[in-house]
Amino acid sequence: MPHFFRTLAVLLLASAAPMVAADDKDTNFIISPQVREGNPSKLMVFIPGGNVPNEDYNKTVIAVQEEVDDTVNMYVAMLGFSSRKCIKVCPTSGACFLLHNQVKDAVEMAREAGFDGSDEDIVIASHSLGGTCANYLVQGYPEEQMYQNGAIFYGSYVDEQGQFGLENYPAPFAMIGAELDGGLARPGKMANWLFDFNKVSADIGISKAVEKSAVLILPSIDHSNFCPGFQVPGDIFPSEVDEETATKEISQTTAAWLRFSLFKNPSKKDINLLKKMIAFTNDLLAPYFEALNYEVMNPAMHYLGEGGSYSPLCEDAQMILAGFDEDDSSRVRIGRDCDLEGFEDSRSCAYLNITDDFEHSRSQYELIEEEGVLNVNVSGHANYYRDFLNTGSFTCASEVGCKMLSGKRIASELGMEYDAPTSRGTCKDVNAHSIQVALDLLNGSRSLVRYSKYGKKICLGDDFDAILSAGPAWIKESLEIKELDECLSVKSVKIDTELDSRLFPGVHYCKLLSPARVIDWIMTDSLKEAVLRRE
Ligand SMILES: *[C@@H]1O[C@H](CO)[C@@H](O)[C@H](O)[C@H]1NC(C)=O
Ligand SMILES: *[C@@H]1O[C@H](CO)[C@@H](O)[C@H](O)[C@H]1NC(C)=O
Ligand SMILES: *[C@@H]1O[C@H](CO)[C@@H](O)[C@H](O)[C@H]1NC(C)=O
Ligand SMILES: *[C@@H]1O[C@H](CO)[C@@H](O)[C@H](O)[C@H]1NC(C)=O
Repeated sequence: MPHFFRTLAVLLLASAAPMVAADDKDTNFIISPQVREGNPSKLMVFIPGGNVPNEDYNKTVIAVQEEVDDTVNMYVAMLGFSSRKCIKVCPTSGACFLLHNQVKDAVEMAREAGFDGSDEDIVIASHSLGGTCANYLVQGYPEEQMYQNGAIFYGSYVDEQGQFGLENYPAPFAMIGAELDGGLARPGKMANWLFDFNKVSADIGISKAVEKSAVLILPSIDHSNFCPGFQVPGDIFPSEVDEETATKEISQTTAAWLRFSLFKNPSKKDINLLKKMIAFTNDLLAPYFEALNYEVMNPAMHYLGEGGSYSPLCEDAQMILAGFDEDDSSRVRIGRDCDLEGFEDSRSCAYLNITDDFEHSRSQYELIEEEGVLNVNVSGHANYYRDFLNTGSFTCASEVGCKMLSGKRIASELGMEYDAPTSRGTCKDVNAHSIQVALDLLNGSRSLVRYSKYGKKICLGDDFDAILSAGPAWIKESLEIKELDECLSVKSVKIDTELDSRLFPGVHYCKLLSPARVIDWIMTDSLKEAVLRRE
């Protein structure tokens, strides 16, 4: 059916059946614990994810209640929204009063049901889009005690940086992610906060870091496992484990963190579980961090606009294009400096973080006769995916642009015979190298085992010329990454010129595939059509 008619049909159905629609609307409800005499009362206020019926969290929160029942009587106030989108009643941190009022109502309901703690006994839990709203409540109501005690973000997160980023967040929290999350809280995105978590750990110690801002990715589960019964669009569904196993993993980790960080009476088992999850999270993402370093050194989450001084991928790329043997390669020395002064037209830095500067950079060379060495200056620039209001899924580069010399130019300056008019290698060869780098970094990992078995593979197409073969056109064109039925197709846009070319003679430019982009693909998107588990 054409799209227009489908939309119309849906509208008609909706208006023809108003009673059914009204029944569907979620409202707040309370789930009371099995009350144990002498246990203190706690209350978890839960904010559901977008479009998820709030009852689909019953199993998860009841499992959490049961996990902590030796320590506390944990009431749960499940929020419900008629739109099933908390964001409608809390579009920003400064306009969250409708949601705030609804939380107050829910707390009142919990008191009527028997919750007899104070505002200090309330924690906020949330899933997915619900986490965005929880984050807004914390930010919008700094004086409100119930938002400052502790927060659990399932498949969701705090700000990427700044006052409400991980390092400075006013409330203790645990971000609990899923290894097979195919959406916005995929491991490659969680990497942003794991990076900060490890910084904080190095600073104040791992134990304090977990207490204040834990980042835990749980193995084998997906984003939909937090709301069993509901399939979140775009997820890797179903996950690798059955519902019961997933719920257990989620509830035990949640209980361990609550007892460790908030209730201050962790068991040995809790501590071991938290240690195990932190180790898992770090092991999972270690190859990804190493791969990010190929885009830009020195290491940081560069998509947030931080500095960097050179691109190891561009250095590799230059040598792959030249295609020299080992002896000849040792006669090429690639610089890592930056010459920002004294150019209009000769700006040269090994890495430029602004597209405009990159556009004006020039690959340079200088023969050092006494050493028989050619100093070569390549320049790199990584482009990142859009991340408006923290809604991007990728922290890796969408492409790494490298301006290099043709192999022929280098050979000619060194007085060597060379059998190709531009370069022996191609951008495609470098993309193959990026894939190999990713596979090597993942050697022995569960991500690679899974991908080898089930993942859609990457296929490399031939390089294509920028329109007009001119610098400005090349800058504006992008590495082509396109998912086809049978593979993820990747093709580089290039410029390569011969030594007698009128424009930029003897250069070779490529827009290249980042090894980190490959790892992100391997960990998540490659698996979306796979059947990881048979029911
Ligand atoms: C979820 O829990 C609420 C409160 O106990 C209950 O009314 C509702 O029927 C439950 N729904 C499901 C699907 O378990
Ligand atoms: C480029 O890097 C410098 C630090 O080296 C940083 O101050 C600046 O904000 C960055 N600019 C962009 C656009 O990323
Ligand atoms: C160019 O590269 C050489 C080494 O090959 C290095 O010594 C020099 O500083 C570089 N120049 C710039 C501007 O990066
Ligand atoms: C991968 O790891 C295995 C051992 O686990 C090792 O034998 C092999 O050489 C490794 N391959 C690469 C490319 O590092």
